[in-house]
Amino acid sequence: MTSSIDQPAYNYKVVRQFTVMTVVWGVVGMLVGVLIAGQLVWPALNFDVPWLSFGRLRPLHTNAVIFAFGGCALFASSLFVVQRTCQTRLISDRLAAVVFWGWQLVIVLAAISLPLGYTSGKEYAELEWPIDILIAVVWVSYAILFFGTITRRKTSHIYVANWFFGAFIVTVAVLHIINSLAVPVSLTKSYSVYAGAVDAMVQWWYGHNAVGFFLTAGFLGIMYYFVPKQAERPVYSYRLSIVHFWSLIAVYIWAGPHHLHFTALPDWAQSLGMVMSLLLLAPSWGGMINGIMTLSGAWHKLRTDPILRFLVVSLSFYGMSTFEGPMMSIKTVNSLSHYTDWTIGHVHSGALGWVAMISIGCIYHLVPIMFERERMYSIRMINIHFWMSTIGTVLYIASMWVNGIIQGLMWRAYNADSSLSYSFVQSVEASYPGYVVRFIGGAIFTAGMLLMAWNLYLTVTRTDTDDETTTEEKTPEAVSA
Ligand code: HEM
Ligand code: HEM
Repeated sequence: MTSSIDQPAYNYKVVRQFTVMTVVWGVVGMLVGVLIAGQLVWPALNFDVPWLSFGRLRPLHTNAVIFAFGGCALFASSLFVVQRTCQTRLISDRLAAVVFWGWQLVIVLAAISLPLGYTSGKEYAELEWPIDILIAVVWVSYAILFFGTITRRKTSHIYVANWFFGAFIVTVAVLHIINSLAVPVSLTKSYSVYAGAVDAMVQWWYGHNAVGFFLTAGFLGIMYYFVPKQAERPVYSYRLSIVHFWSLIAVYIWAGPHHLHFTALPDWAQSLGMVMSLLLLAPSWGGMINGIMTLSGAWHKLRTDPILRFLVVSLSFYGMSTFEGPMMSIKTVNSLSHYTDWTIGHVHSGALGWVAMISIGCIYHLVPIMFERERMYSIRMINIHFWMSTIGTVLYIASMWVNGIIQGLMWRAYNADSSLSYSFVQSVEASYPGYVVRFIGGAIFTAGMLLMAWNLYLTVTRTDTDDETTTEEKTPEAVSA
């Protein structure tokens, strides 16, 4: 007979809800991404409608993919992992429902207010003050739910994935509340309490740590649970994971000024940001190596398990973007890359290659557990999705690198008489092929998400599985644990 410690009744309802919404918001956010990528190729696609214009849809895209898609993946995975590793149920089902419905309300309000043009003007923190207050309430509820569950744990120690989720929850609360402090002048308009260079510094302390803690620490929590689970191997080095944790959170928080090179920010602060960004390479790669080396002795599983492939390739992109980031933070490199599409390429090697791909792998692992199925309906579809994601990401980032370097070099080219060699319009013309390739790459990636949604639908509605799956693909390695 199994004891209640072996088989505690978990709250899977909230995990299931967030799992499904990850796919839904992923499709929506990326479709908006494809639309704005299309607008940069065919400007007529804004149809002369203000709320379809690039300036309004761009923040809709960033908010939808980061906070709706990424956020739901983080809620689903953290609330699953904390229950499984603490061997206990969430402390309150009602609070869990508040977190789920509250977060969906935030997303819907964002989807309405951003196209209407209501914005605080701070990147990644565009939402106006009433929504900011709602976010703070939902986030504090989430913190109580997560940490409360940890205090009720039936295990003696706290598994490292929870450390990363915990750091992500605490830091995002602090960042959001401090950066959003504002004086409201009406229900839909407010002004930041900070002014000038201080406002810029607080904003990019927030902005960079939104990358560091929302788009990185939380997803590292996913890595530390789902990579060992899917590979059926213990984490490569538990000691390294502890060093990784403390060094990452100690260094990330200082790197924000690399977004403000050559601005009115004091020079020493810019240099400090650069040095801290260079140091960040070490913990980032320590984490990546720990994740990838977890496959030691299980490399052969990559041949048959596309879910594991998603997880491992996401780590390769993580390694790539965290090598590129420190390079771009060097002032001389940044003087070339800043304002160009190179930054957009860097963003999406992290966003598509790392964040989206690890989320996709994690969701494919979770769905069968959440819907009590042996595995996803079609492993073949997951395989196709994997290649669509990889090809889409490579097309996106390679085209933006080429564009970035072209733009940076054209803008700084001088003639012998010190006049500029190229007009700005010439650099836009030169960027055109890159925008077409990015559009194609983004569309391929998004089509992969639609395939995932279809596979999810079939998994939920049918109890059988895809008969076309080959025998080899049906080996236990291909079936999610
Ligand atoms: C297939 C899907 C996607 C497409 C086609 C796409 C397209 C775009 C486009 C066209 C822009 C505006 C670039 C510019 O202003 O020049 C953009 C910005 C951005 N996207 Fe995406 N995107 C996709 C997926 C994602 C995902 C999954 C994430 C995050 C998880 C993401 C995060 C961002 C961010 C943070 C920016 C702002 C970058 C900056 O200001 O430097 N995108 N995206
Ligand atoms: C060691 C890690 C990293 C460092 C040191 C770093 C550094 C940088 C630098 C120097 C920029 C360009 C700033 C500018 O010229 O305006 C940048 C932009 C950006 N990075 Fe990273 N990066 C790192 C990892 C990542 C990862 C993993 C992601 C995504 C998951 C990411 C997302 C972004 C975003 C969204 C921006 C654009 C911000 C904006 O201007 O809107 N970074 N990063």
